[in-house]
Amino acid sequence: MQRNHNHTTIVTIEKVIDETPTVRTLVFSDNVMSNVLPGQFAMVWIPGINELPMSVMISKEPGKAAFTVRKHGPASTGLFNVKEGQQIGIRGPYGNSFDLKEGKLLLVGGGTGLVPMIRLLSFVKPADDVTVLIGAKSKDEVFFEDLANNMLENNPHKVIVSTDDGSYGEKGFVTDLVEKLVNESHFDGVYACGPEIMMYKTMQSAHSRNMFVQASLERMMKCGVGICGSCCVGEDLVCRDGTVFDGDHLSSNKEFGHFYRNKAGILEKY
Ligand SMILES: Cc1cc2nc3c(=O)[nH]c(=O)nc-3n(C[C@H](O)[C@H](O)[C@H](O)COP(=O)(O)OP(=O)(O)OC[C@H]3O[C@@H](n4cnc5c(N)ncnc54)[C@H](O)[C@@H]3O)c2cc1C
Ligand code: FES
Repeated sequence: MQRNHNHTTIVTIEKVIDETPTVRTLVFSDNVMSNVLPGQFAMVWIPGINELPMSVMISKEPGKAAFTVRKHGPASTGLFNVKEGQQIGIRGPYGNSFDLKEGKLLLVGGGTGLVPMIRLLSFVKPADDVTVLIGAKSKDEVFFEDLANNMLENNPHKVIVSTDDGSYGEKGFVTDLVEKLVNESHFDGVYACGPEIMMYKTMQSAHSRNMFVQASLERMMKCGVGICGSCCVGEDLVCRDGTVFDGDHLSSNKEFGHFYRNKAGILEKY
């Protein structure tokens, strides 16, 4: 029988991988989540704590998927602390996905925004020339660099890390690198996920040069299915209309990159 994706399915965490002191990957078996498209997300129920939106991470093993979580407030810390053998609930997958172009591609990921970028890498064609930019605050917070290099071993590729404090890779914001790269050459597709200001600057750099650009937005979500309105960005509901939006669309959205909604739904300036 086909699964109703709005019903919560209980899965058991089979493996916990420490990526950095504050980021962990939790692996579980689930045929539906193992096949999601890049950009799609799940609503994850941490029993007794809360429910959170999470991008779906790949697993090397068929039939398995994962969540890569950074501990922050109570809910994400609850998920971060889930041990092997413990159970969580998942519903979804929800949302649209990236339109994958062919040719010269630029993928920009900040923090756990790398998760959909890694899934996107599993869809690139062997002839694609792929540049991955990984942005992190410091060396301690860099993850998925080796994974990205391994996944691209048969492609012409570059994986470039930038840290805000210069403790690893290039020094500075990843968006400075984006600006430099799009200035030097044309990309057939530019993709971003991470802090909104990072996505906003990436979108501006690429869109102003007429390059195809898409960003996967992360907003406060409660229902995940277009009912509560907590994820709205201007006229758009991120859970229902996105999470992936084109540069053409985003460039006319007055809230994107400028305002966000707090947990009470009140509009605040970034
Ligand atoms: C589509 C999408 C994909 C995401 N993927 C990942 C991922 O792969 N890894 C990861 O670590 N983080 C991811 N996040 C962000 C993650 O959901 C937030 O970090 C998390 O909700 C904040 O957790 P917290 O412990 O600070 O929340 P708490 O302070 O405990 O508050 C939790 C409350 O905030 C609400 N909430 C819902 N969405 C958010 C949000 N985006 N930010 C803050 N609060 C929210 C919850 O419904 C809940 O009521 C994603 C967010 C979205 C929208
Ligand atoms: S999270 Fe409720 S409408 Fe998007």
